[in-house]
Amino acid sequence: MIKKRDIVFATRNQGKIKEVQKFFADSSYNILSLDNVGVDIEVIEDGDTFEANAAKKAREVCDASGKMVLADDSGLVIDALDGELGVDSANFLGTDTPYNIRNTKILEMLAGVSENERIARFVCVMAIALPDMDEIVFERAELLGQIAYEISGEGGFGYDPIFFLPKYGVTMAQMDIARKNEISHRGMALRLVRDRLERL
Ligand code: IMP
Repeated sequence: MIKKRDIVFATRNQGKIKEVQKFFADSSYNILSLDNVGVDIEVIEDGDTFEANAAKKAREVCDASGKMVLADDSGLVIDALDGELGVDSANFLGTDTPYNIRNTKILEMLAGVSENERIARFVCVMAIALPDMDEIVFERAELLGQIAYEISGEGGFGYDPIFFLPKYGVTMAQMDIARKNEISHRGMALRLVRDRLERL
């Protein structure tokens, strides 16, 4: 049997880990969590861009684990809020604030905003770091949608219950993981990563 290649996925977000493990389930790669490799460093995400934060996570975890690392930095960009939440999506209203409170607040902030002006996008930047290479490799993907008028769905995580996809008539939280991976920003970026890994 061919041995699978290990990749550490640099996050503690259980929603992201589930999506990435599902994506690579039938591949020649084995996705390890930070706990699997005993890395307990806390990377400070103080970059101004998704790329800067993803690169920082990938490099620091690579140095600590000595393994190939994939790191994702992602967020929700809302046009009617001048591009907020952006790179600070994880900190909106405070890191420990439950997402139903954050999502309710966003709906309140968009009260009275028409359907056409509720455009939003999920952005995902993936960074790959290798122990024997200084260069960081990036892939970026974006998914266009709208901020819904109400919270719907139990699946996914984070801002999924308010991210409405007009083409499918549901929010991202109303999709299962496999379906979400087919269309999401993270799924798109992961397909680019998979192609890139074949060439590395
Ligand atoms: P990060 O860990 O700094 O990348 O944080 C990303 C932020 O965007 C967190 O608040 C996540 O909950 C949110 N986020 C990223 N991807 C998704 C997604 O696929 N669905 C819902 N929220 C997401």
